[in-house]
Amino acid sequence: MKRRALVMALLLSAASTTLAIAQSDLKQPSSSDRYVPRLGDIMSAAQRQHQKLWLAATAQNWELATYELGQLESSLAEAAMMYSGIPVSNVTTLKDPLQSVSDAIAAKDGRKFAKAYASLTEGCNSCHTSMGRSFIAIRVPTGPQPFGNQLFPPQRKP
Ligand code: HEC
Repeated sequence: MKRRALVMALLLSAASTTLAIAQSDLKQPSSSDRYVPRLGDIMSAAQRQHQKLWLAATAQNWELATYELGQLESSLAEAAMMYSGIPVSNVTTLKDPLQSVSDAIAAKDGRKFAKAYASLTEGCNSCHTSMGRSFIAIRVPTGPQPFGNQLFPPQRKP
């Protein structure tokens, strides 16, 4: 229950409430045939959303940036809800950077956005590091090429 409450707090941050698209119109599968996505798949979606968020904001398409931020938040919340091995605190520490990104988008402020986005990206990596996944190194995207927000050379162990 506690876990759910914390994760819901993340989901219900101001950023995601700006985008209350009618998800409820989509039928939920019945509990017996519910497909649980693999964590790596949720994260791969998060990677795409993280990159598109940057690309949208640098193109000053704030509407698209708002959308991608909402998608990213949902992926992170989903990961935390479905995978109890992920420490909730690793997710909730992202609340502040997510809020700052949301504020920067609302203000259409590219400089504030860049700063907030950098700390969000640090948040991705600190969870990876704390979970023995420091080899999954996320960075501020270098451009629109696929995986432009990931570093592939070996990373120094923390
Ligand atoms: C709360 C912890 C946590 C946070 C926050 C987190 N991740 Fe992850 N991520 C993981 C774990 C754990 C894995 C490894 C999953 C596995 O071993 O199957 C992972 C895996 C990944 C992968 C590898 C997917 C693949 O299969 O190639 C990518 C890419 C990734 N994360 C991107 C991100 C991005 C981008 C962010 C930030 C927006 C982020 N992650 C935030 C825990 C986290």
